[in-house]
Amino acid sequence: MAKKPVKKEDPKTTGHSWDGIEEFNNPLPRWWLWTLYLTIIWGIAYVIAYPAWPLINGATPGLLGYSSRIEVKNDIEAANAALEGLNTRIVEADLTAIESDEELLNYAKRGGAAIFFTNCAQCHGEGGAGADGFPNLNDDDWLWGGSIEDIHLTISHGIRDETDYDGRVGDMLAFGDDQMLEPEQIDILAAYVPSLSGAEVDPAIAEEGQALFLDNCAACHTDDGSGDVFVGSADLADHIWLYGDGDEETIRQTITHGRKGLMPSWTGKLTEAQIRMVAVYVHTLGAE
Ligand code: HEC
Ligand code: HEC
Repeated sequence: MAKKPVKKEDPKTTGHSWDGIEEFNNPLPRWWLWTLYLTIIWGIAYVIAYPAWPLINGATPGLLGYSSRIEVKNDIEAANAALEGLNTRIVEADLTAIESDEELLNYAKRGGAAIFFTNCAQCHGEGGAGADGFPNLNDDDWLWGGSIEDIHLTISHGIRDETDYDGRVGDMLAFGDDQMLEPEQIDILAAYVPSLSGAEVDPAIAEEGQALFLDNCAACHTDDGSGDVFVGSADLADHIWLYGDGDEETIRQTITHGRKGLMPSWTGKLTEAQIRMVAVYVHTLGAE
């Protein structure tokens, strides 16, 4: 197709023509141009003010010194500062008074649950249900006492943790391994111990067993086997067993080899506020 001559009169065209379609050469609209200029200025200002060009480690810092990491850090600090008041109150309060202060109680229970989940659940089970050798913390049966002070001491300093001299001590002796009792005597005791919690046993064994028990065991477990929180000797007269389920075989193992359940000390690993929170959490477990 023949090229049309470019028209000289208005409106001006660029001179391009294709299939008779020509392109006007109008100036760009002002508002459009200004928007373009503003975005360019904005872009340059942004690059100067904020972190922009990637470098090997990080990016150009920008004049304002802004950093999303610093912002997050500030946010965390602000949140911590807000909690600092509660933490101070919980540390300064009387242990027994924490649970009667609604605000502290709620804070401690919520914080304590999170601390428990992270630090304690691997041994005590989620929600403190326990496992073989790891006591259930939901029931009202306590080896070392279940008052808030007792629980606080147990958590602060642990049980049989040799790194903490302020912790709980008291072992179930290895009567067999250390040859304090003959295997036959241990058999009699293993058969006798279930009777402390009401199981039927042969009267001859009961008599012999009781004599052996009073001689060898009552010092720690008390005469009726109900245990003593000062040495952490388990209550043998309830139906709750730390090891096994009250079967003769497990009891024989316990008497022969002894037991030394180890609960770590938490002083230095958790703050005093955290220890108090998790103590309140444990104390209120099962209470609702
Ligand atoms: C490494 C395993 C382990 C971890 C982790 C652990 N515990 Fe224990 N805990 C034990 C054992 C084992 C016992 C029982 C010790 C015994 O036989 O006397 C125990 C006992 C206790 C007792 C005493 C129970 C009673 O009947 O008197 C409390 C309370 C307790 N733990 C709370 C906690 C809390 C709270 C945490 C987390 C901060 C925690 N434990 C973390 C192993 C653990
Ligand atoms: C020096 C103190 C002491 C003496 C003596 C002692 N015990 Fe123990 N016994 C303990 C302690 C402490 C525990 C808890 C061990 C643990 O928590 O790991 C325990 C635990 C047990 C358990 C485990 C209970 C459970 O819930 O699983 C049995 C069974 C037991 N003792 C029987 C005996 C018998 C039988 C004798 C006498 C031959 C005896 N004990 C003598 C301190 C003693």
